[in-house]
Amino acid sequence: MIIAKEVSFFYPDGTKALDNVSLTIHTSESAGIVGANGAGKSTLLNHLNGYFLPHSGKISIAGMEVKKQNIETIRQQVGLVFQNPDDQLFTARLFDDVVFGPLNQGMKRECIDAEAEKLLRSLGLWELRDKPPSHLSQGQKRFAAFATVLIMKPPLLVMDEPTSDLDPRNRRKLINLVNTLQSTKITVSHDLDFIWDTCDRVFIMAEGKMTAHGATKEILSNRELLEANGLELPLRLQG
Ligand SMILES: Nc1ncnc2c1ncn2[C@@H]1O[C@H](COP(=O)(O)OP(=O)(O)O)[C@@H](O)[C@H]1O
Ligand SMILES: [Mg+2]
Repeated sequence: MIIAKEVSFFYPDGTKALDNVSLTIHTSESAGIVGANGAGKSTLLNHLNGYFLPHSGKISIAGMEVKKQNIETIRQQVGLVFQNPDDQLFTARLFDDVVFGPLNQGMKRECIDAEAEKLLRSLGLWELRDKPPSHLSQGQKRFAAFATVLIMKPPLLVMDEPTSDLDPRNRRKLINLVNTLQSTKITVSHDLDFIWDTCDRVFIMAEGKMTAHGATKEILSNRELLEANGLELPLRLQG
């Protein structure tokens, strides 16, 4: 589903945020990306929908190279749930945010409305449909942001720190939601217990480089490896 080959990227101020990053993620796989602050995780995610383009190296998604000419098609494949839900919710009514994407793609209004209702009910947001997103709680905003992405049924779902603002009950609800989704998934998170519960495989990044990858339980129970990359064992293994 995703092949990145020797990708490097610099910000305009010269910061080398990605340094020769390669990774392969298979269709239907759920992959986690972990690493200390500033490791380059968000920069990498922003390459998956063409928001950034590599300065060297290549990324392809579902067999198509991420480049200017392909951006529109690529974005139909990739649903990105931003780190901050406020970046995803921009209308004055939750329901309008959820139907915005499909309407923009020219889907029929009545089909979209039915889909949106089904989705909002399943996420426990139906009663809130007429509220301005700015009046929702952080947890509600988080699920609302997911709704705006899930309605598009993206084959690749990309999530940046999805649990950062969730209480334990909503965090559990998100674990269940993510585990029922059939798409290919990539999650960046500092919540290694969330990664443990939702990912088949984990990649570690440090200082713009991909430093390790492997089966989730193997990687996340390797204290030495985690500490060498500025990380700690998941809470459940800390005794
Ligand atoms: N707009 C920017 N301009 C310059 N440097 C940036 C910018 N955004 C991020 N960086 C730098 O790029 C590196 C990777 O950042 P980022 O991808 O946000 O890391 P992570 O998501 O792993 O915390 C960091 O050193 C960060 O300071
Ligand atoms: Mg980040």
